[in-house]
Amino acid sequence: MEIVEQPELMQDLADRLRREGKQIGLVPTMGALHDGHLSLMRRCRSENDTSVMSLFVNPLQFNQKSDLAAYPRDLEGDLKKAEAAGVDLVFAPTEQAMYPEGFQTFVTVEELTRRWEGEFRPGHFRGVATVVAKLCTIVKPHRAYFGQKDYQQALVVERMVRDLYLDVEIVVMPIVRDPDGLALSSRNVNLSIEERKAALSLHRSLAFAEERVRAGERDAKAIVEGMRRIIEREPLARVDYIACCHPETLEPLDRIGGRVLFTLAVWIGKTRLIDNALIPR
Ligand code: PAF
Repeated sequence: MEIVEQPELMQDLADRLRREGKQIGLVPTMGALHDGHLSLMRRCRSENDTSVMSLFVNPLQFNQKSDLAAYPRDLEGDLKKAEAAGVDLVFAPTEQAMYPEGFQTFVTVEELTRRWEGEFRPGHFRGVATVVAKLCTIVKPHRAYFGQKDYQQALVVERMVRDLYLDVEIVVMPIVRDPDGLALSSRNVNLSIEERKAALSLHRSLAFAEERVRAGERDAKAIVEGMRRIIEREPLARVDYIACCHPETLEPLDRIGGRVLFTLAVWIGKTRLIDNALIPR
C-alpha cells in the first residue's frame, strides 16, 4: 500500500492511472477507522481498479478548536486497517499542503446547509464541501464513497457535485451499527461505559419513530416529541435537535406523507453523536 502526502504527486499518479484506463475509487476519511469505513472500502474495492483512501483531519470543518483537539487519531492503526481492507493508496496530506499560506477559495452549498448540522456547527459544511472538492480534484476518482450516518453531509456533497459538474459518482452506503444498535462513529471511543449505555437511546428513539410510522401515525411532531422523551430520560443526554424532515430538501415536516428522514444530534456527556433513519427504508 502506497502512502502519498503531496497533492501534486497524488494528481500525477491519478493522471497516470486514468491514462491507463483504470477506474479510481475514493473513500474520504478523517482516520479513526471503524467498520463503517471498512464497508465503504469493501464497496470501493469491488467497483474500482484502484482504491484510494484519503486520511486528513480537516481543520476547516471543526467549528470548535476543542472538538478538533479531541478528535481521535490513530495513524498507525488506521494504516494497518486500510491495508487489510485492500486499500491500494493512502492520500495523507499535511494541513500545510491542503491549506498553504494564502489559501482563500471555499465552496459553500447554500440551502441544504442552513438547518440541523449547519445550524449547530456554523462553517462545518463549508469546510466539508471545500475539502471534498479539493480531494476530488487531487485524487480524480470516478467514484467517491460516503456513509448515510452523515446524511446531511452526503446530500451536501451530492448537491455540490451536481452544481459544479464534478466528474465523480457519489455512492452512499447504509449506516453500520453495533449489535445493540449504536451507530458506528469515530467519536464512540470517547464514550465511557455509562455514556455508551446512554447513547443507545439515540437508536431506541429512531426505532420508536419507525414503529410509530409503521403503526400509521402521521403526526410528525407527536413522533418527535416521543423521541425526545426517550432520549431525555437519560440524564447524560442533551439534545441539540431531533427532526422529521423531507429526505431531499431537509425541510421539517408536520405531517408524514411519503418517505421521511428522522435525524438527530445529541450530546452524551462531552461527546456529540448524530444518527438518522430513512422511513420507510
Ligand atoms: O465524514 C468525514 O469523515 C469527513 O467529513 C470527510 C468527508 C472525510 C471530509 O473531511
